Amino acid sequence: MRVVATIDPVALAHNLGVVRQRAPGSHVYAVVKADAYGHGLENTVVAFTEADAFAVACMDEVIELRAIDSRPNILVLEGVFDGRELAAAKADKLEIVVHSDWQLQLLERDGVEGIRRVWAKFDTGMHRLGFTPESAGDVRARLVALGIETPGVMSHLACADKPGLTDTARQMAIFGAVCRRFPGSPASLANSAGVLLHPDSHLDWVRPGLMLYGVSPLPEGDGTDFGLRPAMTLSARLLSIQDVATGDVVGYGATWQAPRDCRIGIVSIGYGDGYPWCAAAAGEALVRGKRVPMAGRVSMDMLGVDLTALPAVHVGDEVILWGAGLPVEEVARAVGTSPYELMCRVSRRVPRRIAGRVGTPPLEVSA
Ligand SMILES: Cc1ncc(COP(=O)(O)O)c(C=O)c1O
Repeated sequence: MRVVATIDPVALAHNLGVVRQRAPGSHVYAVVKADAYGHGLENTVVAFTEADAFAVACMDEVIELRAIDSRPNILVLEGVFDGRELAAAKADKLEIVVHSDWQLQLLERDGVEGIRRVWAKFDTGMHRLGFTPESAGDVRARLVALGIETPGVMSHLACADKPGLTDTARQMAIFGAVCRRFPGSPASLANSAGVLLHPDSHLDWVRPGLMLYGVSPLPEGDGTDFGLRPAMTLSARLLSIQDVATGDVVGYGATWQAPRDCRIGIVSIGYGDGYPWCAAAAGEALVRGKRVPMAGRVSMDMLGVDLTALPAVHVGDEVILWGAGLPVEEVARAVGTSPYELMCRVSRRVPRRIAGRVGTPPLEVSA
């Protein structure tokens, strides 16, 4: 296989266990939107059987999830877009978010019979989605008029990954005030950073995504700082090796010039697989457990690495772009993006291969 994302279900199940340890009093939505953050829904659903429910972004993702498992409760984080989606959500007994007046009007027009739970989302400072805190009383009254006495109440934290920032404390205070307008309602606020850093945000339901995949949401360090295990290893192979002389250039645009006589490896992965083009300047890869720098621009299907320090490597050897030993958090920082984006960008052309079963040690995998 020229390139593969190997997914470790034992790591996924372990990471869910870390969520449980951190938020022992809360129910857990396993957030599996965007094809489980690029890991492949079918690989993750089997590992998250201990989750209380799943959360996806939209109804299309419900369809993908249902094709794998008809049983779990599912929360649709963006809610429904129209009457047709609302009808499908009712038929499937889904939980839906309502964040805007137009969505509330849709519920008022078509009713909510069959919906397992409606979560009213409030904007407590992120200014992305949600009703204003001031409208809490009115929103509750409209939901009660629909027969929903205790809707869920939720919000989203904008800066929970930055410890010590007052924004999170302010958001939590505003959310507390909104919740007081909804006596008896379940509340949900915490994403991964909330789970890891803000115990006061745990409340009735936590909604972790990134940490389930073994990745830290913090700007420094990596998931191992919290006892998490990376669940994805992105690997490719050495397709060719050649010697170049001092001053020779490598790759498109002749942007990389050999500072000395070098051994250049060409690796079977490129931006067409989702590996970032901008990695050329700062990226590294792992070959036989050693870090090697990139050499030249990333092409659509290939990239170059400087193997001069590793004379014993061969064509066909595995090259790890991220995984244990080269955390995706570190790669993201080096190339100026986030681990969320890196993992989600792994393209559909890259097969996801599961590396074992929950309850058994991971199998030896060779790419
Ligand atoms: C509403 C909502 N809740 C929870 C999450 C999970 O966040 P994280 O992956 O940072 O844990 C997200 C992800 O963006 C989200 O949009």
